[in-house]
Amino acid sequence: MVIIKSYEPKYREDVQQVCLNTGPDTALTDPVMRDFILCTFCNYYIEQEPENVFVLVDENDTAQGYVFGALNFRKYFRDFKPYLKAVRKLGAKYYLDVSAEILAHAVFSLRYPSHLHIDINEPFRGNGNGSKMISTLTQHMKENGSRAIMLIVGTSNTRGINFYKKNGFKIKASLKNSGTVMAKEL
Ligand SMILES: CC(C)(COP(=O)(O)OP(=O)(O)OC[C@H]1O[C@@H](n2cnc3c(N)ncnc32)[C@H](O)[C@@H]1OP(=O)(O)O)[C@@H](O)C(=O)NCCC(=O)NCCS
Repeated sequence: MVIIKSYEPKYREDVQQVCLNTGPDTALTDPVMRDFILCTFCNYYIEQEPENVFVLVDENDTAQGYVFGALNFRKYFRDFKPYLKAVRKLGAKYYLDVSAEILAHAVFSLRYPSHLHIDINEPFRGNGNGSKMISTLTQHMKENGSRAIMLIVGTSNTRGINFYKKNGFKIKASLKNSGTVMAKEL
């Protein structure tokens, strides 16, 4: 039995662990990759926009998945700067990767001001959990004034792309660094 709850700081480590579990394999073994993944794809959201974070919680009150996002790109761009600085210290390759991610968000932000990330630990996928989580976040974003939302998914992540299509997202662009931009009006 799992339920979707609003984020609380007690779920911080669980959420970070989900982010690492669902990232590249080296995120679990290489401390630099770990820092890069958490700085780029997790810590900003739980620290700067915790009201836009929802968790999938099991019967032991452990978060086994999350969906989170930035309500608008302007705030994200402004408040992400310390995280960008931290990534810069990890090395040029990481800095280039995160810069490409931000640039893609910037380009699409006029039409799609919000963006999101969703990840669930493997045993908790399926049964509609991801779909329920994404509609919880998009409904929340809409109620808080967002009109459209985007995301970047790995081009080889067929399951992810099918999942987003099923939830009303459309492909908007294929990026050179093997990311696919998908978006939805709210
Ligand atoms: C993507 C993810 C969040 C989806 O969550 P989920 O709980 O599996 O999704 P749902 O059960 O709501 O499935 C909804 C749809 O996704 C697609 N989908 C789900 N499992 C699939 C599979 N094994 N193969 C292909 N498509 C699949 C189907 O279209 C499915 O609809 P259906 O059940 O009517 O067939 C989850 O699989 C996940 O965390 N994956 C790893 C991390 C990831 O890829 N995150 C997104 C990165 S941008």
